[in-house]
Amino acid sequence: MKTAVLGGTFDPLHSEHIAIVLKATERYGFDRVILEPTYNPPHKHCRITPYEDRVKMLRLFAERTPCVEIDETEREMALEHAYSYLVLSEIKRKFEGDELTYLIGSDSLMKFTEWRNPDKVAKIMPVMAVPRGDVRAMAEAEAAKLNAAYEGARITVADFDCEEVSSSVIKLYFELKDYDKAAEYVPDYIIGYVSDNGLYSVYSSLVERLRSEMSERLFAHTVRTAEFAAEHAWQLNVDFDSAFLAAILHDSRKQCPPMHPAESYDTLSKEVIHQYDGAEAASDVYGVKDERIIDAIRYHTTGKPDMSALGKLIFIADKLEAGRSYEGVEELRALADKDIEACFRALLRHNYEYLKRSGAQIDPLTSRAYAWYNIAE
Ligand SMILES: [Fe+2]
Ligand SMILES: [Fe+2]
Repeated sequence: MKTAVLGGTFDPLHSEHIAIVLKATERYGFDRVILEPTYNPPHKHCRITPYEDRVKMLRLFAERTPCVEIDETEREMALEHAYSYLVLSEIKRKFEGDELTYLIGSDSLMKFTEWRNPDKVAKIMPVMAVPRGDVRAMAEAEAAKLNAAYEGARITVADFDCEEVSSSVIKLYFELKDYDKAAEYVPDYIIGYVSDNGLYSVYSSLVERLRSEMSERLFAHTVRTAEFAAEHAWQLNVDFDSAFLAAILHDSRKQCPPMHPAESYDTLSKEVIHQYDGAEAASDVYGVKDERIIDAIRYHTTGKPDMSALGKLIFIADKLEAGRSYEGVEELRALADKDIEACFRALLRHNYEYLKRSGAQIDPLTSRAYAWYNIAE
């Protein structure tokens, strides 16, 4: 039997997973595709939807798709670290006699050498990488390099591509109860399961509170900022919860009077005060404990030297969200897709030069951020 194995957290199952299953089956004639849900989250700090719910969502897909089966080797093994070389060896033993292929995304292929014992993984069964987006040439070059590096490796690139789908963006739409937008990425039966079981609604009371406290316009900007942040979080290794909370709260004090007398702020510009108040409100009013989130809010307008990954993400998202229109914004957005760090530096420069040209007061933090990131004038 020709069998493909597709692993993932499936949090939740979405259109990219479905496309991989259907296209791989159609193009390569697999008799079945085994879905292998992650049991223990790979990074302990990342919150993950309970295993049972993720598996139930996979079952809904399997019920509708004859070639799909769910295998729970990871759960059965209950390893603290479910390294692929261990799990795949067990799957190979379990499905002895099958002609197995391990399907992975091109992003995983690009990090293959960072896996535990990549030489062992490469030998267990043929690996087929599916290009996520327009990265075929890069994936093919990487596959050739890995085949040369690891003895017995049989790594290929699938002859079909997949559109990259971000699970963070889907989680965001669920948190916002925007089921129409979620429907662009997940089938109806998954939306039904999510809403019936109250999944992905950790922040619903916070969202409703902010919706009622902000003007419609500011709330829409906030949502678009969160959208941009969720879409790009993976590029900076930022988890969904941090990106979501920092983005949704970044402008919470934008329409409020300053919380302190003017002289107690380290700025002369009124425009900047809301970032400090926003940080204070995040902790004191909305109960955020994570200093990284509070810090990202604190400097989202000015920037600062040595920003955290989350700080950069919120700084960028606030200024490049889909509602922004100013000269150069399209180019900056395109750069964000390609190279987020380069985009951050270009945005700092763009901002600084704009302020200088317009004769506006430049906050000392903005000047220091500009100097820190070594951007020549
Ligand atoms: Fe702001
Ligand atoms: Fe903003």
